Amino acid sequence: MCGIIGYVGKRNAIPVLINGLKRLEYRGYDSAGIAFLNDNKITVRRCAGKIRDLENSIKGERLRSFIGLGHTRWATHGRPSEENAHPHRAGGIVLVHNGIIENYFELKEDLKKKGHVFTSETDTEVICHLIYSFSQKGLSFEDATREALKHVEGAYAIGVINEREPDRMLAVKKDSPLVLGLGEGEFFIASDIPAFLKYTRDVIIPENGELAVITDKGVSISGLISKKPVRKQTTRITWSPAMAEKGGYRHFMLKEIYEQPRAISDTIRGRFFPEKGVVNLEEFSLRAGDLKKVNKIFLVACGTSWHAALIGKYMIEDMARVPCEVDIASEFRYRRPIVPEDSLVIVITQSGETADTIAAQREAQKLGARVLSICNVVGSTSAREADSVFYTHSGPEIGVASTKAFTTQLTGLYLFSIALAKAKGALKSGEIKELFSELLQLPEKVEKALRINNAVLKVARKFYHARDFLYLGRGINYPIALEGALKLKEISYIHAEGYPAGEMKHGPIALIDNNMPVLALAPDDKVFEKILSNMEEVNSRGGKVIAVATEGAAKALVRASHALFLPKTNYYLTPVIFSIPLHLLAYHMAVLRKCNVDQPRNLAKSVTVE
Ligand code: M6R
Repeated sequence: MCGIIGYVGKRNAIPVLINGLKRLEYRGYDSAGIAFLNDNKITVRRCAGKIRDLENSIKGERLRSFIGLGHTRWATHGRPSEENAHPHRAGGIVLVHNGIIENYFELKEDLKKKGHVFTSETDTEVICHLIYSFSQKGLSFEDATREALKHVEGAYAIGVINEREPDRMLAVKKDSPLVLGLGEGEFFIASDIPAFLKYTRDVIIPENGELAVITDKGVSISGLISKKPVRKQTTRITWSPAMAEKGGYRHFMLKEIYEQPRAISDTIRGRFFPEKGVVNLEEFSLRAGDLKKVNKIFLVACGTSWHAALIGKYMIEDMARVPCEVDIASEFRYRRPIVPEDSLVIVITQSGETADTIAAQREAQKLGARVLSICNVVGSTSAREADSVFYTHSGPEIGVASTKAFTTQLTGLYLFSIALAKAKGALKSGEIKELFSELLQLPEKVEKALRINNAVLKVARKFYHARDFLYLGRGINYPIALEGALKLKEISYIHAEGYPAGEMKHGPIALIDNNMPVLALAPDDKVFEKILSNMEEVNSRGGKVIAVATEGAAKALVRASHALFLPKTNYYLTPVIFSIPLHLLAYHMAVLRKCNVDQPRNLAKSVTVE
């Protein structure tokens, strides 16, 4: 996830681009750059680091231009560095991109054979070279761009300028956000409205497969392939600037919860081949031979990432039949673990900078284990030091409470478990295809699950005065009970406990009275009937049951005072779907209790101390 901005108009583009990038910095902040046109020459200025570093690097220079592009990067391909920062250039073509190009490797190899020289490790640079190669064949800027994009697979929102046709900027989108701003004699492109809200509130939202040509006279839009002109409606935005930074959401946490369908799509894109029943192991920087040798797995993490690790154990042991141990990172490093030679240690970390996790990772490497990091931040310490990395493409997570990072970690663990099971011969190809088919439907099912928001809000209104809360789950959803309780404690400061439902009768049942809300996770799996019995046990002691169940499970409804129903998926993916109402519940309770949702007391997004 990155932020792009473009300006064409009568004022100096440089401060407009820098201001716009600052408003987009929440989308990525590991490198930044701008490009601007003067006398048919494009100047590119880039640097690793934040927008502030870019701004400092051009301070005092009298830069002026009326057309330019800007980019703030969240690295996906290639570490954060000046060479990998956008804008990218090929000949006189300069481009910024947000998205992921799935077939960049093949395109790059092909272009290299034709003599193109690449200067970055990014997927983006291939689009630039492709457009340039078609313009060298005599096509106009517009036609070269249309032709180039026919060869590109994946998601993109791009802004392009060309020294040969300096009066215009082109913008195209497919599956990545892009908005156009219409001012008085000035026009903008951006990943998000706040980037230009200071200058105009009038916007056009292009659809996938539309190309916009922007000059200082106006904007014209046409079908990318059909070339047919498209009439678009202009919308007037009424957001306040603060709301706009959060894309219209009140808090980053809520925005990030709603970003999950996109985050999961980006995390699975290009990482498996459903027709062949194969996981793309390059993306794990692993070889099938290496996987085959693995006979023991340790999953190590902190907080919410540790909950993902617990779920990973259920997935790996069930699918691949390889024994797993799960450790809290701060325990692993001091407990003198016995790590056999054929072990793989999987560390899971959103930030890649959690001190306990890094220390555990180093300890594992000292003990001779190979480490795979499942990590969200490219170039972070965990990612750099690990032997193999799987990046979750959830984009920057700003809210302290981890949401989309968690569900993309689960998605990564699901893919890893399939890959391991395949290497070990533990799953048949038909079974693998079924698992892939369910994974392909996951973003849509998450989208559907998010429609539960209003029902969750009603539950929150009923219970936000509670002093304590109990979450019960079984099997692969027991860690979701832990996750629901952690989120409630973390952002609403209500004491909560997560328990394996079968353990309730061994102690916590003594806590139940008519002041104790009990949330029971009841998907229709092999332990459904068991959890129904646990719900009965709560009812008969006066507790209030909130059931979270699979659509159509009427038996859950009769045993609960409140019920929330979710779309059906396979056993391994239920934790992804069932975490959604729990994250929403914690969110609404925190808002109703007037807590600081995005920055809860005493906490930090990345815990870099022991
Ligand atoms: O960046 P990490 O995934 O390593 O962070 C681990 C925990 O600090 C983190 O998950 C924490 O528990 C969250 N605030 C929970 O929402």
